Amino acid sequence: MNLNKLGIFLAHLVPPEFSNKLSLEGLKFLYNLGILSSVNSKIPGDKNIESLGLNFSNKIGLAGGLDKNADYFHVLGKLGFGFIEVGTLTLKPQKGNLKPRVHRFAKERNIVNSLGFNNVGVYEGLKNIEKNKPFYNGVLGVSIGKSKETKIENAFKDYLHLIDYVYDQADYIAINISSPNTENLRELSSENYFKDLIEKIMNKKEQLNIGASKNKPFVLKISPDESKRNLEKIFTSCMEFNVDGLILNNSSINHKKNLKGGISGNYIREISENNLIFAKNFCGDEISLISSGGIMTSNDVAKRIDLGAELVQLYSGFIFSGTDLLKESLEI
Ligand SMILES: Cc1cc2nc3c(=O)[nH]c(=O)nc-3n(C[C@H](O)[C@H](O)[C@H](O)COP(=O)(O)O)c2cc1C
Repeated sequence: MNLNKLGIFLAHLVPPEFSNKLSLEGLKFLYNLGILSSVNSKIPGDKNIESLGLNFSNKIGLAGGLDKNADYFHVLGKLGFGFIEVGTLTLKPQKGNLKPRVHRFAKERNIVNSLGFNNVGVYEGLKNIEKNKPFYNGVLGVSIGKSKETKIENAFKDYLHLIDYVYDQADYIAINISSPNTENLRELSSENYFKDLIEKIMNKKEQLNIGASKNKPFVLKISPDESKRNLEKIFTSCMEFNVDGLILNNSSINHKKNLKGGISGNYIREISENNLIFAKNFCGDEISLISSGGIMTSNDVAKRIDLGAELVQLYSGFIFSGTDLLKESLEI
């Protein structure tokens, strides 16, 4: 058994949320001993990919939600990811929903989670980013989301404040309006709110960009459960206001598990592929597409890139296959 398989085997003996923490701490321990990069020394990398106006060493990133508080991205970067998205961070610290709130189905390779943006809040999150960024040389995305207690009518204010906080440190900012675990959050993508929200956010970006005289890319993370009709509306507004990229997609609430929360992994492979195809057909080359959802093998990575994704993000695939998936994917 290699080190990666042993690590996964041990991590899967304990409850999922605890096991994530344990695995990340284990990696950090190896990192602090200075032996983490040597574990994966065969990773090729350095392919110089251009997307979102940024340079990536490769197309494979870690999706939002594994390093919620920006404690580990410098460690995970050593494994070979071309980019890492930390967060989702909210304005104030949040405990999230009641435990147990992460359920793993190892045979099916699915995860159902109802975490609810548990995080230390953007102020502490930013301190972590500042502390760890000097030790990281990949692209850093920062995911932001509305606080649980913020009324939906005031959600835009949360995003605008959060942007002020993270603008300088983030290489790109991911606007998360698609988590199924914060009540009402997904209403932000409805006709009532979306156009107004994205206009305000992109105006904010313009103001900050002028001050900084650069283009900081903003990407929007979309739910897989949108109707085609609403997706068209979302894409149209995104193109109108020059959103730089779309992450397709978050976890799905359309599952038959008797559990609260969104499903990730194998189960959403097809829907994520279909949403990617739909977005590519509708948006062409106007917006960078980042594929997330059910990318469980290196074949999935290759397929998403064939279907028009400029970048891909792993989450469940990484939980179930660890660095083997990353290594195989980097070799394609
Ligand atoms: C336990 C867990 C926590 C997550 N937390 C976040 C989060 O905080 N922010 C976010 O944008 N996505 C979050 N996600 C969604 C993932 O980033 C990813 O988009 C989704 O799981 C689909 O990819 P996958 O099928 O490869 O897992 C989370 C997913 C899981 C399983």
